[in-house]
Amino acid sequence: MENRLSAAILGAGARGTMFAEKLASRVHQFTVTAICDINPEQLNKCKKILSISDEQLFDDEERFFEKKRADVMVIATYDKYHVRQCVRALKMGYDVVLEKPISDSREEIDLLLKTQKETGCLIVVCHELRYGAAFEKLGELLSSGVIGRLIAIDAMERVRYWHQAQAYVRIQSVRNEVAHPTILAKCSHDLDLIQSYAGAACETVTSIGDLTFFRKESAPEDSTQYCLDCPHMETCPYSAKRIYVDAWKAQGCPEFVWPFNKVSLKKPTTEEDLYEGLRTSYFGQCVFHLGNEKYEHVVDHQLVQMMFKNGVTATLKMVFAAEAGRRINLFGTYGELLLDERSATIEVRPFGEKKEIIHFSDLIGSREGHGGGDDRLVNSLYDIFTRKSVNRTSLAESVESHLIGISAEESRLNGGKLIYVHP
Ligand SMILES: NC(=O)c1ccc[n+]([C@@H]2O[C@H](COP(=O)([O-])OP(=O)(O)OC[C@H]3O[C@@H](n4cnc5c(N)ncnc54)[C@H](O)[C@@H]3O)[C@@H](O)[C@H]2O)c1
Repeated sequence: MENRLSAAILGAGARGTMFAEKLASRVHQFTVTAICDINPEQLNKCKKILSISDEQLFDDEERFFEKKRADVMVIATYDKYHVRQCVRALKMGYDVVLEKPISDSREEIDLLLKTQKETGCLIVVCHELRYGAAFEKLGELLSSGVIGRLIAIDAMERVRYWHQAQAYVRIQSVRNEVAHPTILAKCSHDLDLIQSYAGAACETVTSIGDLTFFRKESAPEDSTQYCLDCPHMETCPYSAKRIYVDAWKAQGCPEFVWPFNKVSLKKPTTEEDLYEGLRTSYFGQCVFHLGNEKYEHVVDHQLVQMMFKNGVTATLKMVFAAEAGRRINLFGTYGELLLDERSATIEVRPFGEKKEIIHFSDLIGSREGHGGGDDRLVNSLYDIFTRKSVNRTSLAESVESHLIGISAEESRLNGGKLIYVHP
């Protein structure tokens, strides 16, 4: 058996639990020794899922940080806490798996870079799409020269309408003071991929976008605060009953799966648990009555234009739509590549030659968890932390796309003003 590494998890929500489960299942490499979450329900859930004792569970960050509890810390708390907690972990000698987004502030990013340099610890940023086989293949095709020199990138992030309602309208932690701007919260992966394909630092950014729809003015006159009381409960596509109860039944009442396990943390989930969650949480509230219009960092669509230092231009559009799926079109001097998650294909179109279609299914065994990216990222962690392989999503590598996101938000809040990413 290899020398196992121990891991402590800070933040045991959806992502933290996913990491805890995946690390614990790699028994020859990792052991999970501590979990901290301020929500006792999350800790209860972890107890059911993992073999972990009460002494290893912490409901208070201060106690959790009293001493070093593992080799590696996974930080999967709210966006705004990431840097503060990561600085603390680095200073205690932890290597860190840090959930994205890193930060929405240039000062915080500088502080993290400085602390990492001083401590020499590693940070793996969860840009797992870089590990996703289809996105990796797109990068390989580009590097192979099959489309010549890259000229432009056109990317679109389609957020399924009910996922938009859940993750970017209803969940409190994406729209209050612990949240980052939507462009970072939702699109840090897209910006990271665009930046890696562009292959140079970004020079300028402009951006426009707004919270156009999910605001009180859009609410039907007779609508109510909670969907379960609303006359539109059976017809509105954003109705919490349709999204969380009807869809759960249509999927055969699964025991404990996303997105239903956001509404009820009880395992196994029952219909009554879901109704209870809808009566008592933000998940059951009307998408127009949540007061999101008072948060300037919350948008429902956004467009970003980028100019890179090597002359490559790029656009990214984030919209809510019927179906989910990224689409990334790379335009070169001698051809074009198109990755489309909806058709699960990459089209390779050298000019004047026959088109080739690559199916994702030929590249990835499972499409689970961000195109297989979560699994492949976790599979890489042991070698990264034992200094045997390169950290492809290091802090240094991940900072550039965050600076693009920060600049995009600055531009959007200033009427689409041109922002220099490295002023
Ligand atoms: N890499 C990805 O693809 C991806 C996908 C989704 C979310 N995320 C990011 O992961 C992070 C977590 O997202 P999530 O979906 O798991 O959210 P979540 O709300 O399910 O989990 C966050 C957890 O952190 C806990 N928490 C908050 N403050 C804490 C503190 N001070 N100490 C201990 N626990 C604390 C909360 O109680 C909650 O259980 C976010 O930053 C999010 O942007 C990344």
